[in-house]
Parts: sequence; structure tokens; C-alpha cells
Amino acid sequence: MTTLLLFTIYVRVEWISYCILAFLQLSLLSVCTRNFLFLPDIQSVTVFPVLFLLFYLTIATLSMSSTHALVECLSKKFGSVFSVHFGMKKVVVLCGYRTVKEALLTLDEAFGEREAPTILQEQTKGHGVLWSGGDSWKEMRRFALTNLRDFGMGKKASEEKIIEECQHLSVVLQQFKGEAFDMSNAITFAVSNIICSIVYGSRFNYNDPEFRGQIGRADALNHIQLSVSTQLYNLYPSLFKWLLNRRRILNISAENKKQTWSFIHHLKESLNPETCRGFVDTFLVRQKHLEDSGNTDTHFHDDNLVHMVLDLFIAGTETTGTTLRWSLLLMARYPLIQDRVQGELRSVLGGRQVQMEDRKNLPYTNAVIHEVLRFSSIIPMALPHKTSRDVTFRGHLIKKGTTVYPLLVSVLHDESEWEKPRSFHPDHFLDTDGKFTKRDAFMPFSAGRRICLGETLARMELFLFFSSLLQRFRFTPPPGVPEEELDLTPNVCFTLLPPTHKLCAVAL
Ligand code: HEM
Repeated sequence: MTTLLLFTIYVRVEWISYCILAFLQLSLLSVCTRNFLFLPDIQSVTVFPVLFLLFYLTIATLSMSSTHALVECLSKKFGSVFSVHFGMKKVVVLCGYRTVKEALLTLDEAFGEREAPTILQEQTKGHGVLWSGGDSWKEMRRFALTNLRDFGMGKKASEEKIIEECQHLSVVLQQFKGEAFDMSNAITFAVSNIICSIVYGSRFNYNDPEFRGQIGRADALNHIQLSVSTQLYNLYPSLFKWLLNRRRILNISAENKKQTWSFIHHLKESLNPETCRGFVDTFLVRQKHLEDSGNTDTHFHDDNLVHMVLDLFIAGTETTGTTLRWSLLLMARYPLIQDRVQGELRSVLGGRQVQMEDRKNLPYTNAVIHEVLRFSSIIPMALPHKTSRDVTFRGHLIKKGTTVYPLLVSVLHDESEWEKPRSFHPDHFLDTDGKFTKRDAFMPFSAGRRICLGETLARMELFLFFSSLLQRFRFTPPPGVPEEELDLTPNVCFTLLPPTHKLCAVAL
């Protein structure tokens, strides 16, 4: 009874949020004219001040259903640099390969700060690496890159971890004996264990309640952070502090921190500076060293440690897991492409386990993985950037501190760069001799100063997980469902998820 009552109240609050939103949008309509824009020379979407969510949904939906419409409706109508109102805030949007490349690569220092939405500022307080900026970000990013490399990112050590994890994942898939099931959890557990082994120095059992708890909370945050009420709070924090979703997010985030602290605490108790087991140990050793030398003005403090661990866990799990799920769904949807991948794996490897060094001899498999990343474009608007200074860009003055969205999807689906931007077409990455070829407009990991910190690890994971799974299983739709009926319309969360689906993994 109480649950029903709470649920009813919750639904009402979400509806009230929608109504307030409509009211605010309409009332702002009258005041937000061109005269109010601080960048009068940038074309602006002045129809009405859109909420981030509406804009994101439009981008996400258009990105999958009609790239042509996306480019037509955005860059052709407003130019490749235009601005949009999210509530009272005006943000700049960059569209198309050439524009995004120029901003992120040529002017990387000017466009390389991060804009953290209010709800994320509240959770992270500027710590960690995903949502931080300035000197703290610089130091944490440098430390993370060096240490992730030392603990095997892109090297033999993580290759072995991934291959071992593939075996655990295969055991789970085998248990279903070729019957259709939703593989999301198993894939997320496997991918998450790779980042856990690097960060903590050990993997978790898939049934471990603490491990499942962390993953469940990350998934919940992925969904709630994009809700209408959270967006209202991001836009008008002092007005919407009372909303239920804000409280839920902060509670989940507090629970995440508590759990992460408890993992770190265990590691601290058994720390041996001579044999660091993972990223956390190295951080603790550096912290102790600085403390012992009397250095108190340092970024190596507890808050940065806990947020670094959370950032790596969140950024390293959701993204790679989602891409892997897209890859299996696309294999079931396009069986001829799956045939060709499996044929190549068989002829090059025979029956032996795939290794990283095989990638150069597997051009088609490599092209398919690249095409999955391009086609699914799971982070369509990158993460919000911010200008670090006044910058003149393509004839427009953009003031210091302006939020900037580089539309990665407009690069990955740019009609002037890709032969078939709207189709799943692995030949995008093959030359006329069937050799793998790199493409400049391939930017799923973004570019410049804020480029994905885990790109090397993600590429390794995708290659090894995907190839190993296709060596062992044939992926098909559930019995009675024709391939062409497999839906490819994404579920829009913080990332673009494949729609909920079941597949059969038939052992080869
Ligand atoms: C298919 C997998 C992945 C994709 C498509 C992806 C994509 C991205 C994108 C688009 C960004 C935002 C860049 C920007 O703001 O311009 C990003 C940032 C980031 N990614 Fe990834 N990522 C993936 C896997 C990973 C993994 C495995 C890790 C963990 C090691 C990771 C850690 C991070 C971090 C820490 C950032 C923030 C970097 C910063 O702000 O300095 N990512 N990623």
C-alpha cells in the first residue's frame, strides 16, 4: 500500500515536472530573442529555448533513423556552428567532421575544458577525471594514463586478463544451450571485470552481491541522469532542489562512494609498496610518499582517489559493454557479415585462441568492429566541453566559459565523409584489395585534449571479446524471428543502448 502511494506520488511529481517545464519554456519564449544572445553572429535555434533532454532525444533519434535528416535539419539550416538554449543557458553546437576536427584538434586548448552539469558537480565536487578541470584534472589524467599503461592497458598483461574473462563469459553463454536470452548482464559483468582487475588488482565473481550492486547503481544512474526532472534541476538548481530524482541520484552516488571506500580500505590494510596490485595501490603509495615528505598541497587526496575509481568504473563499463552488445545484435541482424567474420577467423586462426597480434591478419573482423563503433555512435554528443578562453572560431566570437557540444554523431555519419553513412557497411574500413584502412572521420572516442582516456583498452577489449565470442558461437535471433525484424532503434540513455533484445548463442 505504502509502495503504491509512493509510486503514485512519484508519477505525479514527474508529471508536475513536465508541466513546470512547459510553463518555463513558454515563458522564456517571450524573452529569449536574438537581442539577448551574447553571440549575435552565431545562428541560433530560437524557436523556443529547448531543454537539454529534448535536444538530446532529437539528436539521438535522428542519428539512428535518418542521418540525412540530422545533417539537413541542423548544419544545413543553422550552419556547422550554431547555438541552442537549454533553459536560460546558451550552448554552442559543432556539427560535421571538418568543424569538430578544427575545434577539438587545431584549437584543442581553447575547446578542451569540461562543463559538468549541476547534478554531476554536486556529486563529484570537481574531483576525479571525467567531470573535473584545471590542474586537478591535468594531474589526475596524467597519473591515470601512466598507471593504466603500467597495469597493462594495451599490453600483454591486459590481453591475458581479457582472454581469461572471455572464458568466464563463454561459460555463461553455454549454460543457455542455444536458447534465446538477454545477454546484457553477462556482457556487462565481463567487461566490468577488466577495469576492476586493472583498478583493484582482482576480478569479481559474477554472483558477488557487492559487484552486482555497483553495476546496478551505475545502470540506474545512466537512466535517471537524463530524466526530465534531473534536467530541470540542472537548468534551475535553486528552484528544483526538492525533486525526487535529485535525491535518488545523490543517494545512489553516496552508496557508490561508500562501497568504493570499503574496497579501497581492504586494499589499504594489505598494501605492500613493493608489489602494487593495481591502480589503487599505486595511488595510495604516491599519496603516502607525498604525506611523508610533508607535502600537503597535493591533488593526491582521498576524494580524488574515490572519484577516479568511480570514473574509471563507470566510463569503462557502460561504453564497452554497450558496444559489444551492439556488435552481437548486428551480427544476428546481418548473417552474411557474420559468415564472413567467422570464415576469416577460421582460415587465419584454425581453432586456436585469438591474440592481439592477429589483428593485422584479420582485416575484415577489424573493419566490422570499427563499423560497429561508427554505426552505433553510442555517445552522440560527446561529453559537454567548455571554452577555456575567448576564441574566434570560423568567424564567430565564442566567449570564455561557453558550453560546447561537439556532435560526434554528425562526424561519424557525415555524408561527405562516408559512402553509406546510414547503413551498416564494414567496407568503409577496407580498401579495394580488402586491406584494413583507417578513416580520418572515425572519432567515436572524440579527439584532442579530452579524448577518451581508455581508448587503447576499449579497442583491445572489443577486438578480443568480439573475435573470441565469434570463434565459439553463432549469434541468431530467437526462433521464428526473421533477421530483418531485429529492431535497431536505440534506447536513449546517457549512452545510446541497443534496444532490449534476446539472442541465441549457438555453440560452434
Ligand atoms: C567503446 C568504448 C568507449 C567509447 C566509445 C568511449 C568514448 C568516450 C568519449 C566520446 C568520451 C568523451 C570525450 C570528450 O569529452 O570529448 C570519453 C571520455 C572518457 N573515457 Fe571513454 N570510451 C570508451 C571506453 C572507455 C574505457 C574502457 C575507459 C576506462 C579506462 C574510458 C574512460 C574514459 C574517461 C576517464 C574519459 C574522460 C576523459 C577526460 O575527460 O579527460 N572510456 N570516452
